[in-house]
Amino acid sequence: MSTTHEKIEQLRKRTDKIKLGGGLKAIEKQHALGKMTAHERLHLLYDTGFYDELYRFAEHHSTTLGMTDKQLPADGVVTCMGAVGKRLLYASAQDFTVMGGSVGHMHAWKICEVMDMAMKQGAPYVSINDSGGARIQEAVDSLQGYGKIFYYNTLLSGVVPQIAIVAGPCAGGAAYSPALMDFIIQVHGTGHLFIAGPEVIKKATGEDISAEELGGAVAQSARSGNVHFIARDDSHAIEITQTLLSYLPSNNMEDPPYYPTEGLDLEPVDDLNMIIPDDSRESYDMYQVIERIADPESFFEVHAHFARNIIIGFARVNGHVVGVVANQPMVKAGCLDIDASDKSSMFIRFCNAFNVPLVTLVDVPGFMPGVEQEFGGIIRHGAKMLFSYSAATVPKITVVLRKAYGGAYLAMCAKALGADRVAAWPTAEIAVMGAEGAVSVLYRNDIKAADDPKAKRKEFVAGYEAEFSTPYLAAARGMVDSVIEPKDTRAYIGIALEALQTKRELRPQKKHGLIPM
Ligand code: HXC
Repeated sequence: MSTTHEKIEQLRKRTDKIKLGGGLKAIEKQHALGKMTAHERLHLLYDTGFYDELYRFAEHHSTTLGMTDKQLPADGVVTCMGAVGKRLLYASAQDFTVMGGSVGHMHAWKICEVMDMAMKQGAPYVSINDSGGARIQEAVDSLQGYGKIFYYNTLLSGVVPQIAIVAGPCAGGAAYSPALMDFIIQVHGTGHLFIAGPEVIKKATGEDISAEELGGAVAQSARSGNVHFIARDDSHAIEITQTLLSYLPSNNMEDPPYYPTEGLDLEPVDDLNMIIPDDSRESYDMYQVIERIADPESFFEVHAHFARNIIIGFARVNGHVVGVVANQPMVKAGCLDIDASDKSSMFIRFCNAFNVPLVTLVDVPGFMPGVEQEFGGIIRHGAKMLFSYSAATVPKITVVLRKAYGGAYLAMCAKALGADRVAAWPTAEIAVMGAEGAVSVLYRNDIKAADDPKAKRKEFVAGYEAEFSTPYLAAARGMVDSVIEPKDTRAYIGIALEALQTKRELRPQKKHGLIPM
């Protein structure tokens, strides 16, 4: 019979062995690739480096393909809880040093268990992916495990924030777990995300492409739009995760963290009056506007590399977290296209689910015209924006800076979609379409018949602009509450946010709406 002291020693030895994962050689290999181990990543993520590991002693049950004698420490995944920014956070980190971090029955069960705890306790969940995918030896048990992970991702959706870090291979069906989560952070160079890898593609279609070109962070962020943040390395991925969490409530029953400031800042921001060029065809940089409206250094952009014609991100105004959606006139003139609609709709729905007020900055000439856009389903995709804004019951504040034409004006959270406050700058042009287009439709015959068609067209354009390309028609009909000087925009949003803190909006009960997909 061993003594208590011996049993404690035995526990220590077992723990140390398990914490070493696949052993020193495998850890060296992991480091040589520029990757941290699962424990190193978690140590960096949690406050003071402390986390409580759950199910450390879990073992696989498989008896197939020589698995009986195989010992897989923690079954290749560390599952735990701890605090980040002093708030509870659950996480799982796949351990590539243990059989390539492959997913067997217990591995998946452990992940589902911490997700279940996160859901019941209202804490965010972070999943660090670094895995060769379904453990081949565990066959259908592995597939069942993945299915359960997807099921829990869906249960957690809209209840607690879910963040995926792709820090190694994440291929095949495995890619669908990050895809079901709210934000994906991918590590440049080591993270790879794809459904079918280069070899499969070569066999299926004959196309030649490297793993990095196909599933690297740049491709998956800028081209496919699956990934929200590119990290330089593992520690940068952790830093992004911590920053992102600092803007988010722990669950859908809480408000985002509020950073009290010394009262309302109502000071004018004078140089906003100089932002809009005299020629309305000239572009300007919307980032300059956002930076002047948000609290200093508080704007945290999401999805920066994808659909750059629209900007989304979190910011603080007088300490209150807001979600910013803004057209970027410098890219595609700020038009809304398929990708911009998808990008912003997902963000709007996230903000609504997690009680983040929406601030929308409008300078939009319209939906992007083109055969490719039409055949790609711009109608269906653009409808997502109308749906997302209309369905959102969080405070919605809209500021029209310049162009606000047609359906795109509505899609950028116009009053008709339930905006609580709509302000317009004096440079706003709120109309069915721009002057040139309108004049061509309305006065085509008059222009053709004129002695000097060019001069006549100019005259009509000037007349249209004076009457329609202003904010005053919309203000006269209550679609704009205030026409404000640009310099007063920060104060306007600050006051509106304070007033809307108590906003309550009830809708008829239903199972769920049917967002166009
Ligand atoms: C069992 C696996 C494994 C897997 C890796 N290993 N992937 N074991 N099942 N899926 C093992 C390797 O045999 C090796 O064991 C160790 O992990 C490290 O792997 P290496 O190949 O040495 O590492 P590396 O050279 O870095 O290559 C990484 C890799 C490669 C590219 C991920 O391992 C690979 O191609 N693995 C298979 C990927 C795959 O086809 N998975 C199934 C996808 S389908 P030893 O003992 O030698 O150290 C899928 C379906 C999910 O996931 C569906 C959900 C709906």
